[in-house]
Amino acid sequence: MSDLKPIEIVRELDKYIIGQDKAKRSVAIALRNRWRRRHVEEDLQDEISPKNIIMIGPTGVGKTEISRRLANLTDSPFFKVEASKFTEIGYVGRDVESMVRDLVELTVNRMRDQAEDEVMDKAEKIAEERVLDLLLPKTPVKAAAVPDSADDAVNVENVEEQVSEKVEEPVLEENPATDKTREKLRKMLQEGKLDSRMVDIDVTDQQGPMIEIFSTMGMEDIGMNIRDMMSNLMPKNTKRRKVTVEEALDILTEQEAQNLVDLDKVVDKAVEMVEQSGIIFIDEIDKVTGNHAGSGPEVSREGVQRDLLPIVEGSSVPTKYGIVKTDHILFIASGAFHTSKPSDLIPELQGRFPIRVELDSLGQKEFIRILTEPQNALLLQYIALLRTEGVDLSFDDSAVAEIARIAEEVNSRTENIGARRLHTLMEYLLEDILFNAPDVLEKNVTIDSGFVKERLKDVVADEDLSRYIL
Ligand SMILES: Nc1ncnc2c1ncn2[C@@H]1O[C@H](COP(=O)(O)OP(=O)(O)OP(=O)(O)O)[C@@H](O)[C@H]1O
Ligand SMILES: [Mg+2]
Repeated sequence: MSDLKPIEIVRELDKYIIGQDKAKRSVAIALRNRWRRRHVEEDLQDEISPKNIIMIGPTGVGKTEISRRLANLTDSPFFKVEASKFTEIGYVGRDVESMVRDLVELTVNRMRDQAEDEVMDKAEKIAEERVLDLLLPKTPVKAAAVPDSADDAVNVENVEEQVSEKVEEPVLEENPATDKTREKLRKMLQEGKLDSRMVDIDVTDQQGPMIEIFSTMGMEDIGMNIRDMMSNLMPKNTKRRKVTVEEALDILTEQEAQNLVDLDKVVDKAVEMVEQSGIIFIDEIDKVTGNHAGSGPEVSREGVQRDLLPIVEGSSVPTKYGIVKTDHILFIASGAFHTSKPSDLIPELQGRFPIRVELDSLGQKEFIRILTEPQNALLLQYIALLRTEGVDLSFDDSAVAEIARIAEEVNSRTENIGARRLHTLMEYLLEDILFNAPDVLEKNVTIDSGFVKERLKDVVADEDLSRYIL
């Protein structure tokens, strides 16, 4: 996916987000530049630093939506955080460096999964052998009680019985027929005929012993390391479990896949990916502006901004996978800047986001399209929901136009909450239908502009009422 051209990226975003072309273009360019940089010769690569973006626009116009969709479009390690989550280093809470740690963790996990997928075929084969070993132990130990039925093992009819005996109490004799039996068993196993048979396997307790470490005061890192250390020191908790063959195959395949993957290599690759093409999306950046520094929580907010500086600028962050350099990580910030302005950010931080894009506020025209066009359009969602009750809901064009018009009107008279207004309107509009749907006799419901006007006229006319209800 990562080699999407800018125009293709915009086209993908168009499926979910209406308008906001400038913002889409900027992020598409930035994304493509990640890819371009990777193809530049190496000594120049280091010189090309990312051009961080800040997206500014009123609430509910698609900022977060763009970042969410972007995440699915890129192969680059991508992580989204809310700036408001952070506190200054030294205070209780998450420090800003944790975003880099999280990005690395995420990438390592993703690449480990990928690597495991790649060895899956091999792992499945080994798991099959191991299950066969369980069903029919290979190694001869002392011949204890040799059953008379040894020869019968070849007998297909008896295989099943044989198996159950052997599972309970493995027969330990060398038997020239075992190989043949094994192949028969393999065939049955592959056909799923043994799926419900029970076997004993050893499973390691993934979680390790429960150790809770209280990490405060920016010591999250230390807490994390201690926990890791401890769980390595403690003996792995293995338990013998009785499971069906089907489950055993799954569990053993998983185990074998984990064993086949070289974790060190995965980590090295992941860290490199993060350093070279990582993207961090910082949402709600406006929530850490404080225009009157000096008292109360404002101090800490500016502290967050100051802590952000070195990370955005490029610094080394210690993570449990080693030091990670942030020099080439791309940062995209976004904020509504409703009560503050980008210029309220401390100047050093402003300077580190050279590209600014504004998102437009939305009106009736956009609302009509938002209601109907995106793949996850609101109307489609309600139609799908009600279809589960056998109700066939439809909206005629005049109704859609009316809903959009009312949304714009309420937005302009009360608070402008952008496309979120459509959610509140729709919920109010369809309340009766949503409540009664299971029992209505008339299964075809068409919403027209008359219905919309009638249902919404009281609330819309009364400004106070619309403040509360919509
Ligand atoms: N341009 C748009 N096209 C399609 N849907 C939109 C658009 N803008 C907003 N929406 C819808 O409105 C809702 C809110 O949008 P989003 O979360 O992106 O707002 P935001 O710009 O991040 O606002 P805030 O500043 O409050 O975080 C989402 O459900 C989103 O799908
Ligand atoms: Mg948002």
